Amino acid sequence: MASKIGVVGCGYVGLVTGACFASLGHDVLCADIDADRIEKLSKGFIPIFEPGLEELVREGIASQRLRFTTSTRTAAEESEYIFICVQTPQLPDGNANMSFVEDAAREIAGGLSPRSIVINKSTMPVGSVERVRQVAEGAGAVEVHFVSNPEFLREGSAVYDFLHPDRIVIGSDDPVAAGRVSQLYTGLHAPILITDAASAEMIKYASNAFLAMKISFANGIANLCAAVGADAAEVTLGMGYDRRIGFEFLKPGPGFGGSCFPKDSSALLALAREQGVPFALLDATLEVNASQISRIVAMIEASLGELNGRRIGVLGLAFKANTDDVRDSPAIEICRRLLESGAEVVATDPAGSERAASLLPGLRLGPDPASTAEGADCLALLTEWEDFRWLDYEAIGATMARKIMIDARNLLDPAALRRAGFDYYGIGR
Ligand code: UDX
Repeated sequence: MASKIGVVGCGYVGLVTGACFASLGHDVLCADIDADRIEKLSKGFIPIFEPGLEELVREGIASQRLRFTTSTRTAAEESEYIFICVQTPQLPDGNANMSFVEDAAREIAGGLSPRSIVINKSTMPVGSVERVRQVAEGAGAVEVHFVSNPEFLREGSAVYDFLHPDRIVIGSDDPVAAGRVSQLYTGLHAPILITDAASAEMIKYASNAFLAMKISFANGIANLCAAVGADAAEVTLGMGYDRRIGFEFLKPGPGFGGSCFPKDSSALLALAREQGVPFALLDATLEVNASQISRIVAMIEASLGELNGRRIGVLGLAFKANTDDVRDSPAIEICRRLLESGAEVVATDPAGSERAASLLPGLRLGPDPASTAEGADCLALLTEWEDFRWLDYEAIGATMARKIMIDARNLLDPAALRRAGFDYYGIGR
């Protein structure tokens, strides 16, 4: 049965949530305070690079199941289910900044009715369902229900992840409201876990922190593999066959980045500190992640003798492949350090170049990998775009000053690179 859904915030999470619910047959009204963004969205132009999203938004607009507004209050008035999908950026102390969520709660308050259910979709600290309730009730909401329904979307496959979830988590101290929210997902095949609000909020943080820990563990093992002459790719493959471990999130590299893992791990750590609960594993996860960047800069420096005056070609700036997102991207931090050490850095990325250039004024952009490599003393592959796997490295090497490849993602075939005349360095290989 079609339900009326309001979505507050048209960023990654809000837009994917709105477009996917429309594709499941619901009537969705998405609100954002950015008028320019709403105007473009209404015409079917989406401001982010997310496979499949533009098609879904256009289908939703054509079927009139997906509409956009600049009025948060209207989205609340016209809907029974209101999803809060605004950003919760990291504060200097590691905690999440809840001011956007609180603003949204105040804005919707006057438009809510006793049928309304307000659902926290963005990642929010434990206790946020209660916080949103207090703010909304303080602004006049009466007899409204509040629920947590965290997203588990990966950038680059967010539409797929929404429509093929491993699980759907719904947390509320009101089981009737939780049951009603679960109906919205009719048509998807996934276990639905109904919990109390705090547990649902914790599931999201615990899942992200666990995945971040897996990556840091893989990086630790890879560094040890390099020291003892083992191959990290083989080692993590051998570990992954054990079903209790699994293959995923065991790829060593420059460390995890993006808008979620660093922020959510820091927020969980801040919570543990606040509660006086020691969580050394989480501390170490972040510490290993930070040191991975220094390690890669050191690898580049060791291969060149020194960084000052060297020309380094960088392949990849986004925090991972298939996204234009450079937020907290290890590649950006590595470029920053190379520039600070006096190196000349020319970089290219299939999607993230422009965003990176605005963050790093000294960075030169190459239009493509071949021109980025021209005259370089070294190439550093920092994002695992498939495009980089299949380049003609023999031709590329012929234009370089020195043929050195630092493959920080273990994307390339070491033997093929060596045949092309490169000194090849991977992570833990
Ligand atoms: C993540 C979670 O996967 C998602 O469930 C949550 O809702 C938001 O955060 P995302 O930030 O899009 O999604 O990226 P993800 O694909 O999970 O990768 C995170 C980071 O880990 C990237 O920097 C990636 O390069 C790195 N990573 C991932 C590794 O270094 N090794 C791996 O094996 C996997």
